[in-house]
Amino acid sequence: MASSVLVENVSKVFHTREGGLLFRGKKRVVEALKNVSFEVREGEVFGLLGPNGAGKTTTIKILSTLLLPDSGDAWVNGYHVVKEANKVRESIGVSLYSDRGFYWKLSGRENLMYFARLYHLERSYAKSRIDYLLKLLDLESDADRLVEEYSTGMKSKLNIARALLQDPPVLFLDEPTIGLDPTAARKVREVIMELRGEGKTVLLTTHNMYEAELLCDRVAIISKGRVIAIGTPGELKSKVSEHKVIEVELAGFDEGLLEMVKQGRGVIGAAARIRDPVSGLAELRIVYDGDFALKDVLGMLLSSRGRLISVKSLEPTLEDVFVTMTGERLEAPS
Ligand SMILES: Nc1ncnc2c1ncn2[C@@H]1O[C@H](COP(=O)(O)OP(=O)(O)OP(=O)(O)O)[C@@H](O)[C@H]1O
Ligand SMILES: [Mg+2]
Repeated sequence: MASSVLVENVSKVFHTREGGLLFRGKKRVVEALKNVSFEVREGEVFGLLGPNGAGKTTTIKILSTLLLPDSGDAWVNGYHVVKEANKVRESIGVSLYSDRGFYWKLSGRENLMYFARLYHLERSYAKSRIDYLLKLLDLESDADRLVEEYSTGMKSKLNIARALLQDPPVLFLDEPTIGLDPTAARKVREVIMELRGEGKTVLLTTHNMYEAELLCDRVAIISKGRVIAIGTPGELKSKVSEHKVIEVELAGFDEGLLEMVKQGRGVIGAAARIRDPVSGLAELRIVYDGDFALKDVLGMLLSSRGRLISVKSLEPTLEDVFVTMTGERLEAPS
């Protein structure tokens, strides 16, 4: 199968300064991407799954020619993202999470017409395409309201409609369902599945493992600018399917306790999500093998300064692949 997106050893460093306009702080170097490589096959829904700051949006921006890589190469539809940027732009639709740039004093429909004309779509074709997209995204009844009256969810859906205007073969969707209520998120997921049915290639980013599992043919797990695993959700989960998982809620958490748990007999990986730094309220996810490990871990937790609130036994998920490979957690699913 041909590849729609090919990324080879792409790296990107940001040089910034701490502070804002008023205070010029010390220089900072952020390695946003480190030798990232992956391939998205034609007709595939491919997910970049990772927590905040992993490098997902940076990858999408490089692939949509909004940002230059420092090194490495990438092709979209066979076109090089640096040397053939115009050709790349013609073959993609992009919906960036940070870009909700619409004209507030125009209606949703007028905004889409404005962008359609900017993309040189012929007026009558644009009109019917816009009607179709408004219907597809359940925006018909709000189409003639001003965008300034739109909710966050409506703007997100309008953003996706805009990405689809040119009916491009390749779509880049950055966090397509973030901030949407369950009905709107379901609608957007349905649209992504419909696009897949039409043979489109979709590259999406998410920090929601359920979404990755539901939508994606294959997933690249990304952490701190590196791709740490690639595969179908089933292949990735098979890395942890033999293990057992508990999630422990406790107050009075400290990093020392986590380190101790990680060293425990039979513990494959552990990571914490801090809910409240003041009280040390945290959720620990622990991946382990064997009943003796559970006994040891619970013993450690009970004899620590922390106060155990609850212990749940769970089926391993994609998050546990992340926990065992990085010692960190993904964000809470939205
Ligand atoms: N323009 C920029 N200047 C400086 N640093 C940046 C810039 N854009 C991104 N970064 C840094 O690069 C890293 C990767 O950011 P990126 O936005 O790609 O992450 P992400 O995976 O999309 O995260 P999120 O889930 O929060 O959207 C982060 O450390 C971020 O602070
Ligand atoms: Mg992002």
